[in-house]
Formats: sequence, structure tokens, C-alpha cells
Amino acid sequence: ALERTISIIKPDAVAKNVIGEIYSRFEKAGLKVVAAKMKHLSKAEAEGFYAVHRERPFFNALVEFMISGPVMVQVLEGEGAVLKNRELMGATNPKEAAAGTIRADFADSIDANAVHGSDSLENAAIEIAYFFPATDVYAR
Ligand code: CMP
Repeated sequence: ALERTISIIKPDAVAKNVIGEIYSRFEKAGLKVVAAKMKHLSKAEAEGFYAVHRERPFFNALVEFMISGPVMVQVLEGEGAVLKNRELMGATNPKEAAAGTIRADFADSIDANAVHGSDSLENAAIEIAYFFPATDVYAR
């Protein structure tokens, strides 16, 4: 089915100047960028976005990392977009990420792991609404 998902290019990958290389992977996989913005998240914004991880031991480090520089946030649309984006990203820990995935190629550690992607269609809808009013998402 045609789906939409959130992708965030994290501060490490933005600093490495690989936004375009990562966008190219989305496009080659048939995913369209239907909304996008660069944003330096506030602490409150990062905490709110990752609220499901609030009780996890890595929460504070995750939030500090996510506010360490600007991120690029986009909505991707395509057939099976949620899973397709997760396949392109590879495993959360780059040491476990399959060759040729975004995290295998651009991530340095489980914290600085280059990209975030929604883990389910349900969370995708929540995450899209967190960053983009419906009027800023473009059918194309
Ligand atoms: P992300 O997909 O953005 O979702 C939460 C992030 O927490 C994850 O990517 C990792 O960058 C980070 N993280 C740090 N330690 C862990 C861990 N042990 N398990 C899962 N995520 C972790």
C-alpha cells in the first residue's frame, strides 16, 4: 500500500555533508520526498519526539546528540514506505547493519547512527504530525 513515513537525517550525517547521498538512496528505491525541512531541534522538541524512549538508559544521550546540530527531517512516500525506509537504513547499531545500507556506510555508533525512520505505520502518522502540518505535506 502507498504509505508515508518520517525520515530524519541526524546531526552526524548532516555534518558529514551526505544529505544528497542519502536522498539519492530514497529516490532510487522509489521513495518520494513529499515534505522536508532543516531544523535545529530544541531540547523540548527532541524530548517530545523521543518520548517513547523516556525511561530508556540512553534517553539523555540521545536527546543531547539530536540537539548537537541541525537535522534534516522529511516525509517519504511510496509503496511500503515504512519498511522500505527501514531496509535502506539498516540495523540501529551500525556494527550490525548490512553492507550497502545508510547506517553501514555513514554511521559511526549506535548513538551517532546517521538516520531515524518510523518503526511502524502507526508511529509514522504520529511522527509526521509532530513535525509537519498537513498543509506542508505535498501529494506529487
Ligand atoms: P533511532 O531510530 O533514532 O531511535 C532511538 C535512538 O536511540 C536510536 O535510533 C539510536 O540512535 C539510539 N540508541 C542508543 N542506544 C540504543 C539502544 N541500546 N537501543 C536502541 N536505540 C539506541
